[in-house]
Amino acid sequence: MNEEERILMEEVKKVKELTSFTPEIGIVLGSGLGGLAEEVKKVLEIPYSSLPSLPTSSIPGHKGAFLFGTLREKKVILMEGRVHYYEGYSAKEVVRPERLMALLGAKKILLTNAAGGVNESFVPGDLMMIVDHIASLVPSPLRGENIDSFGPRFPDMSGVYSPSLQRKMKEAASSLSIPLKTGIYMQFTGPQFESPAEIRMAKTLGADAVGMSTAIEAIALSHMGVDVAGLSLITNKAAGLSKEPLSHEEVQEIASLSANKMEALVKKFVSLL
Ligand code: HPA
Repeated sequence: MNEEERILMEEVKKVKELTSFTPEIGIVLGSGLGGLAEEVKKVLEIPYSSLPSLPTSSIPGHKGAFLFGTLREKKVILMEGRVHYYEGYSAKEVVRPERLMALLGAKKILLTNAAGGVNESFVPGDLMMIVDHIASLVPSPLRGENIDSFGPRFPDMSGVYSPSLQRKMKEAASSLSIPLKTGIYMQFTGPQFESPAEIRMAKTLGADAVGMSTAIEAIALSHMGVDVAGLSLITNKAAGLSKEPLSHEEVQEIASLSANKMEALVKKFVSLL
């Protein structure tokens, strides 16, 4: 067995010793969106630190635990906090918790994040459903020996964000009268915010939003055959598009101001799955 697969299967075994709960849906909670965890009827919480191969996060606003429970009668596993490539882990290590959710049974996974708006029509507080991504500037989580039991060496990336989940997300948004933008998410490594010139590049390449997390997670999950959905909360206009300096505090502030809207949308979305 491949070393990475062995590491993951060991963690699966540990989780299964703690609970027989099989989640159907996985949700990664991005910056400031942790409030959704309170809505879950909790079965069990497992801190990442008790699964030693999982990377742990050091970023304020990012808790580090899996939450198992039910949300709108659906069996869910939530990632309360994620780690980012810029924290120093390899791309493969960064996606371990997401892969673990899939191995524990989650066949549909929603990735949420805070992102900077590149599309000039986006304003802070907007929600953008991710329809595709640009990950060419970040290392692939699939680099190295392929895990054949997960997926092919050369996986197709033309339908990473499941069309059927996209329809459900749109349905959820329109039933709640929540405006939902759609667009392309481009991942940068961070931790520095992008320069204005990089944002002009991103725009030229067709990006609508930029962030530091989601595309590599989507790649790893899509490789495993998981149906992926992606939702960005636009917390700021990207560098050079406004006079405001960028800061993590601003990202967190806008995220918490808009958290209710995002949480309502996610709950409705889950109820439709
Ligand atoms: N750039 C990258 N990541 C982000 C941003 C941004 O402007 N805002 C929130 N996350």
